[in-house]
Amino acid sequence: MKNLKIASIPGDGIGNEVVPAAIKVLETIANIHGGMKFDFTHFPYGCEYYLENGAMMAEDGLERLKDFDGIFLGAVGNAKLVPDHVSLWGLLIKIRREFEQVINIRPAKVLKGVKSPLVNPKDFDLIVVRENSEGEYSSVGGRIYQGEDELAIQNNIFSRKATERAMRYAFELALKRKKHVTSATKSNGIVYSMPFWDEVFKDVSKDYPTVDTDSQHIDALSAFFITHPDKFDVIVASNLFGDILTDLGAAIMGSIGVAPAANINVNGKYPSMFEPVHGSAPDIIGKGIANPLGQIWTAKMMLDHFGEEELGNLLLAAIESVTSAGILTPDLGGIHTTEEVTVEIIRKLANY
Ligand code: NAI
Ligand code: MG
Repeated sequence: MKNLKIASIPGDGIGNEVVPAAIKVLETIANIHGGMKFDFTHFPYGCEYYLENGAMMAEDGLERLKDFDGIFLGAVGNAKLVPDHVSLWGLLIKIRREFEQVINIRPAKVLKGVKSPLVNPKDFDLIVVRENSEGEYSSVGGRIYQGEDELAIQNNIFSRKATERAMRYAFELALKRKKHVTSATKSNGIVYSMPFWDEVFKDVSKDYPTVDTDSQHIDALSAFFITHPDKFDVIVASNLFGDILTDLGAAIMGSIGVAPAANINVNGKYPSMFEPVHGSAPDIIGKGIANPLGQIWTAKMMLDHFGEEELGNLLLAAIESVTSAGILTPDLGGIHTTEEVTVEIIRKLANY
């Protein structure tokens, strides 16, 4: 029996609605598999925990989390209780950093029955691999002077180690997909880090002769996400470029409520963390209408991560058969509830 120990952190707001829904789906999947079991341990970390305890997680929270096989997180943030920078840095970003989750991956594809804001989305199915530890998001720099002489310097950090690591991850992923990697660059404007990025990309690509490559400047690449997203398979990007591209990817799918993400630890020292792209959605808390698909698709990414790609694909097929049947929450123009969508997915899975 494959027993996967998962730490569940629903967090704040609709995290408490969509995480239980996705856990029900995962338990159904485990039953179908027969040889697999999820062992969930629930952690109440979040803004209410902060009000009672003065911190977003227990003092030894990381210690408690570190031996799990994975972390399944909902959303963090309730600005009425705790300022956003305190809540995000005290839980989500802390886990990403301390557990060396150096790669962030976010797929975007047309879900049948979900209307993309694009006029002609065709059948796009892409995934962005974002370097998640350095790049433009560094704390190296400074500010000096006041008034008209005031200035700020922010340094970008690109190490060969982290750059190569992200690229190898992208190539390995491409081998399981359509065998194409696009590098997001800007070496025509950024004259040190991006030519370096291009060189490393060329070096790494030599180890993957069966994978096609191309390199696109980030400005043109962003435009292509709108004009022909179907031309992409895997895209590898620096921290900032990847951040922007992945929001664009979520937008062209039709709702932030369906977009999944994973923060991957690649050295095996700590668990990876799986979380949807959306936040705690304070405007719809308690209404029972939060779209559970982002969290459920995130569960599919967790299955893939544990080598259960067949089950992952089964789950994605179940999601699409529910969306194509028009069983949608209001963010997708539907009239159905979180519960109804979840029950329908479970029913579909049981029929496979
Ligand atoms: P948000 O993603 O929570 O909401 C943006 C809009 O999308 C809202 O209208 C919301 O109702 C809708 N929405 C989001 N997820 C949905 C779902 N599953 N189903 C239906 N509609 C959905 O972003 P916002 O409002 O900027 O942030 C709210 C709080 O969440 C803040 O405290 C913020 O810091 C936090 N946040 C946390 C994130 C995380 O935990 N990774 C990511 C983004 C925001
Ligand atoms: Mg972002």
